[in-house]
Amino acid sequence: MEHMIYIQNAAEVITMKNHTDRPARKEAMDELNIIKNGSVLIADGKIVAVGLDEDLQETYLDQINEATVIDARNKIVTPGLIDPHTHIVHAGTRENEYAMRLQGKSYMEIMNAGGGIHATTRATQSASFEQLYEETKVRMDTFLKNGVTTIEAKSGYGLTTEHEMKQLEVAKKLDEDHPLDLISTFMGAHAVPMDYKDDPETFVDLVMEEMIPEIAKRNLATFNDVFCERGVFTPAQSKRILQAGKEYGLIPKIHADEIEPYGGAEIAAEVGAISADHLLKASDEGIQAMAEQDVMGVLLPGTAFFLMAEFANARKMIDSGVPVALSTDFNPGSSPTISLQFIMNLGCLQMGMTPAEVLTATTINAAHAIGVADTIGSLEVGKNADVTIFNVPNHLVLSYQYGMNHVDTVIKSGRVVVENGLLYG
Ligand code: NIG
Ligand code: FE
Repeated sequence: MEHMIYIQNAAEVITMKNHTDRPARKEAMDELNIIKNGSVLIADGKIVAVGLDEDLQETYLDQINEATVIDARNKIVTPGLIDPHTHIVHAGTRENEYAMRLQGKSYMEIMNAGGGIHATTRATQSASFEQLYEETKVRMDTFLKNGVTTIEAKSGYGLTTEHEMKQLEVAKKLDEDHPLDLISTFMGAHAVPMDYKDDPETFVDLVMEEMIPEIAKRNLATFNDVFCERGVFTPAQSKRILQAGKEYGLIPKIHADEIEPYGGAEIAAEVGAISADHLLKASDEGIQAMAEQDVMGVLLPGTAFFLMAEFANARKMIDSGVPVALSTDFNPGSSPTISLQFIMNLGCLQMGMTPAEVLTATTINAAHAIGVADTIGSLEVGKNADVTIFNVPNHLVLSYQYGMNHVDTVIKSGRVVVENGLLYG
């Protein structure tokens, strides 16, 4: 065996076990399966043992003697955090729009006037592959330093076949080159380009007949996402685009009921989406349908915070049996943050979730939201050794002391990638 690591004597090892087959829901979201004075043995990129330090010392003494030991006293150990909804591959920033919104302009007004997603689309279309790669890589480093070991990444700032592919090719190359794992979603239906403003159906056809087949043929994405919102894509158009993706093996996701109630949650249940995201304005019927069809609700409280909007009703969703995950929605317009730790704090203070529920929502349930719970999301024997060590004495402090980065160490696939809060090597 090589590359053995022994994380020793953590105040809390938060295992999140027993939810690999099905996401945690209802009361189970509040159960972390904590081992106090816990240790984790890692070898060859996998988790070999998790348990009480004294038990592991007895059974694995030879391996422990050969391993690199990380002292985790007074710290907590969690599965590497997972962010299941980001728009990380893009060029530039939009602080000018932030200033406009502070003066009273709304997000949709700015977008309809050719700013918003259109502004980032222009910047992304003009950017070379190398420029996009470099900008995105810096952001991935920041995710890693903040304890996140896997993210989902959407296209949707290309809006032509050529530029959508460029975005997804950048994501693919970065997934290969960077320790952070990146799982791609095609989102050609992120906005109706200004050129198609008077003829959105032609753009919908382009997405369905040209983009989806090409992206699928090149194996550039796992998921297919649509911005279903008044003034963007209608419920009927969204449904057609998601069904078209399914025919090419792309699993549906949907930006649903973000600004207005628009039937997005219902569509998610109808097309068998793996998740419906945002849901600030989701209807009771939509929530019920999601619970019945096992659709993950991916909630993005950073977006509600930044758009100064009402938060999603996480409590109602969890209590109705919808499995819930949390994400940053990292993007330059509606949520320019990469801090999942801050998102956890918002989950508690603004959406009534418990500190345990927000951890479930950023580990095992987040893994389910992007279809990777068989390999990550919990600290269980045989899973990939993606582990974050936080410099807090218990899991409550993680979301209590907010607006700061508590990360001490990050291990990705069995290798230390962040040490003392800094990128390793
Ligand atoms: O999830 N709602 C649509 N898409 C993003 C925002 C993208 C942008 O403003 O650049 C979101 O909020
Ligand atoms: Fe989004």
